[in-house]
Amino acid sequence: MLKIYSLKLMSIRQYNGSLEVKTLNLRFPNPLILAAGILGLTAPSLKRAVDSGAGGVVTKSVGLKPREGFPNPTIVDLGFGLVNSMGLPNPGLQAFVEELEELEGLEAPLILSIYAFSEEELATMGRMISELKTVSAVELNVSCPHVGGVSEIGKSPELVKSYVKTLKESLNDKPVLVKLTPDVSDILLIAKAAVDGGADALTAINTVKSMVIDVETGRPVLAGVFGGLSGPAIKPIALRCVYEIVEALDIPVFGCGGVETARDVIEFIMAGAVAVQMGSAIARRGLRVFREISTELKKFMEFRGFKSLGEIRGLAHKK
Ligand code: DHB
Repeated sequence: MLKIYSLKLMSIRQYNGSLEVKTLNLRFPNPLILAAGILGLTAPSLKRAVDSGAGGVVTKSVGLKPREGFPNPTIVDLGFGLVNSMGLPNPGLQAFVEELEELEGLEAPLILSIYAFSEEELATMGRMISELKTVSAVELNVSCPHVGGVSEIGKSPELVKSYVKTLKESLNDKPVLVKLTPDVSDILLIAKAAVDGGADALTAINTVKSMVIDVETGRPVLAGVFGGLSGPAIKPIALRCVYEIVEALDIPVFGCGGVETARDVIEFIMAGAVAVQMGSAIARRGLRVFREISTELKKFMEFRGFKSLGEIRGLAHKK
């Protein structure tokens, strides 16, 4: 009896073959999004990520004015993760707008990552961005761990609320994601402040402030001294942050931190993430990761008889 019943269940609960995610009034063909900071400074590389199967792309963070960034060395591969300290190098928003114009007709949402050193700068950027047809959403980086003037914002609930409000008011309805740092005693306080400021979604988490020392010279390896740790080492921290936020707040959360396999993606979605962002995995294994993980995800859904990603989203919260 039991057997017949479960067979029937299997046939009802058939996977529909789609990995689509609909959120923020946007359609992502799959939940695997290129994270900020990797391949995100030119139109051809962003396009290549979408052509390689990314469900969406986030640009490298840009500011109002051009920035050279820090001198070398800027990155250390520790095996279990990367520590990078680029210093937010970018051509400035005006020059980047011209790059973005080449991305018309992109087949996945383009999320523009921005940072600002003041609310005045942010409002100016917001007004410029509101005109851009190719930009589907904006991700506010208040959490770069080692650039003074930016890292402080993401640790203060008052500043986060005020910055987000300023950006929302200047943007004319484009959705705003706020990228959070885990380097705080209570990420929920910051997440709530972002929601109070009008954030439409949160990205959890940015890299973790860290450093590496060269025992031969006795000096810090990175020219910027501190850097951001990404990759597998931070995945359990990121997962915990997503879970905590989803448990407490009603806002879409993009999981980010150490996603390398389909299993990782499923963990984040079970923690309640709408989608995930991937950076270090692309740096370490290349753009083929998007198609490989999509294929694995589909196999998992089929094998387990899940109809859609919606069926597994938030499962870890059910009591
Ligand atoms: C940089 C910025 C970040 O937000 C981050 O997480 C790591 C590095 C940078 O440009 O240095």
